[in-house]
Amino acid sequence: MSSSSASPAFDPDPIEQRVSALLARMTLAEKIGQMSQLNASEGYAPDYLAEPLRAGCVGSVINVVDVAAVNELQRLAVEESRLGIPLLVGRDVIHGFKTVLPIPLGQAATWNPAIVREGARVAALEAATTGVNWTFAPMIDISRDPRWGRIAEGFGEDPFLASTLGAAMVSGFQGSDLSATGSIASCAKHFAGYGAVESGRDYATTNIPEHELYNVYLRPFKAAVDAGVMTLMTSFSDLNGVPATGNDFLLREVLRDEWAFDGFVVSDWDSIRQLQIHGLTENDRESAYAAATAGVDMEMAGDAYSKHLAELVAEGRINTSVIDAAVANILRVKIRLGLFERPYTEPDKLPPIASEHALATAKQAALQSVVLLKNERRVLPLSAAKLDSVAIIGPLADAPYQQLGTWIFDGDLQLSITPMHAIHSLLGRDVDVRYLRAMENSRSRATEAFDEAVSIAADSDVTILFLGEESILSGEARSRADINLPGDQAELVRRIRATGKQVIAVVLAGRPLTLTNIVDQVDALLFAWHPGTMAGPAIADLLFGVESPSGKLPATLPRMVGQIPIYYSQKSSGKPPKPHTIAHIDVIDSRAPQTSFGMTAFHLDAGYTPLFPFGFGLSYTWFDYQHIRASSSELKLGDTITISAELTNRGEFPADEVVQLYVRDLVGSVTRPVKELKGFQRVRLEPGQTVTVDFALHSDDLAFYGRDMKLTVEPGEFHAWIGGSSDTELRTQFRIIAGS
Ligand code: NOJ
Repeated sequence: MSSSSASPAFDPDPIEQRVSALLARMTLAEKIGQMSQLNASEGYAPDYLAEPLRAGCVGSVINVVDVAAVNELQRLAVEESRLGIPLLVGRDVIHGFKTVLPIPLGQAATWNPAIVREGARVAALEAATTGVNWTFAPMIDISRDPRWGRIAEGFGEDPFLASTLGAAMVSGFQGSDLSATGSIASCAKHFAGYGAVESGRDYATTNIPEHELYNVYLRPFKAAVDAGVMTLMTSFSDLNGVPATGNDFLLREVLRDEWAFDGFVVSDWDSIRQLQIHGLTENDRESAYAAATAGVDMEMAGDAYSKHLAELVAEGRINTSVIDAAVANILRVKIRLGLFERPYTEPDKLPPIASEHALATAKQAALQSVVLLKNERRVLPLSAAKLDSVAIIGPLADAPYQQLGTWIFDGDLQLSITPMHAIHSLLGRDVDVRYLRAMENSRSRATEAFDEAVSIAADSDVTILFLGEESILSGEARSRADINLPGDQAELVRRIRATGKQVIAVVLAGRPLTLTNIVDQVDALLFAWHPGTMAGPAIADLLFGVESPSGKLPATLPRMVGQIPIYYSQKSSGKPPKPHTIAHIDVIDSRAPQTSFGMTAFHLDAGYTPLFPFGFGLSYTWFDYQHIRASSSELKLGDTITISAELTNRGEFPADEVVQLYVRDLVGSVTRPVKELKGFQRVRLEPGQTVTVDFALHSDDLAFYGRDMKLTVEPGEFHAWIGGSSDTELRTQFRIIAGS
């Protein structure tokens, strides 16, 4: 791996030679220019950019997606500046460009790295047609708090799942050859800890013990760096008292010294100047000092660097080697992207927007992302042949924009196929489809249309309710303290239920919701996240049995908000609850002695289990797990063990199952989670088919940061489970022994 700082010594790597040669010719102003990204959203190649571009004082622009404008900006940089250094053109291409894939949390529910990789590839190819060469994705912040609106943008609560899918997304964006047409640089964000913001309130403080930081929050970032991610973005949040944008522990010790990252770090939007608002610095100048010395190479959409770095260098407070290292990191990425050779957009060499392949990928991702939470008396799949009429009711049944979810700056609304339209075309003329929106939007409290909804439902064979959250309710700065279905949706469900007809609910949302007040009111419940452009065809296929649901929850669904944080890989505590040790607030005897129902870690009004656990998701078939075994009772350090189980499709439906491997390290120098995901595989089984699913587990896979903060495997007893959810009880065990 090449060095992250501009070394005066001769480096045989041709890229490093080019970096050094360029650096040697650059003035300080040009170097600081490379460290600055400007907002170019104000129209076609805005004039205020021309002058700094000609002066060679802009490293990157953000938020310009007009092909002609991008090419003009590149032309100014490449042909009219002294050194002709091309621009990085950045854009938030988070889950698709024009063709929108499910939100990342929905993609996580696929548990399918191949589809996540392909989705990113599709997004990169579309974005590249406009000249975008750098996306701010994947977001790989672990979050165990569904109140946080940005949980929509990440891969959920688990570091192993987020690491695997994050690395897949990086490789989808960057391709096997970063310099090829259609490959774009990826940015792992937000480094680090953002998902742990207090009370799920966006931008708030995070306090994360160091071993938890390494064992949980940093793991996906390490995986992204190992996958070759070109850039990282700092978090807006404060980590243990030092805001991430000025945090030299994160940016130097961890990222450069331990992980040898040689790409570059960009701040978040104006987050350098915000160091003052955090209370870390006195003014913008000190903020520029704190960020540059901590290791932020480029400032996003702010002017602290362009205004103050030169002066700080002149005063000798910032050494030129700090500036040179930052610029070298940025130039290295530009060279790797092939921008010097091909700075201009080449739409003719790229597939058309919304190609057949793009739409098929978006549909496949949506299909695999939907989680079946309940299916009483096998009401699903519906059979078109047995139906005369279907009622489709709810604010999200025919809402082309809302189904796309958060962060869809470029998403093309015209491409959206809604569930209402898809069901209509799937059923043709044989079934009478009656549609009523019933609520203006998901937050509506107006119930005037409910009577009509009830009469349509009463008059139809089955009602499909499309409920949830509009897209504006999740994403950045969209935290909620109450995560029930908003507005009067629960009342709508109750009224429809009272008709006595079959009720199926499809929830479209940007976060896990608390569904306790509707789950008993419906016969079947599908959780679809915000599925994107192809929401309709995917959901219609699942409802009518063209395909079986196969999504699994990437985050726990709590019973009520007061249980948060609730996640499967919790610690045991010294007094773990068991079903017989809990009591309920409604039935306890107020005169009973304090110890009468045991003394364990539960809530009197919510128990200790979630409504639906991490990894959970039903299918139209029934998967039977048996015969778990470890290939050996002992695993020597440095060796591999195989954990396997037999899986049979006992139903009548061909279907995919996501088989999951969990492990518990029974004794650790710091306590270990009660279960940790260590592997998963999506397998397809025909009815009656049995397969043996093997997981190879290397002893290194069981390493963690212990009390001495070193990554180690601690010998001792381990439990291992295989199953279709984190609450699997099919268990075996093995022992790790020091090798001889
Ligand atoms: C702020 C967000 O936190 C970040 O995720 C995004 O990439 C930038 N703005 C750019 O839009």
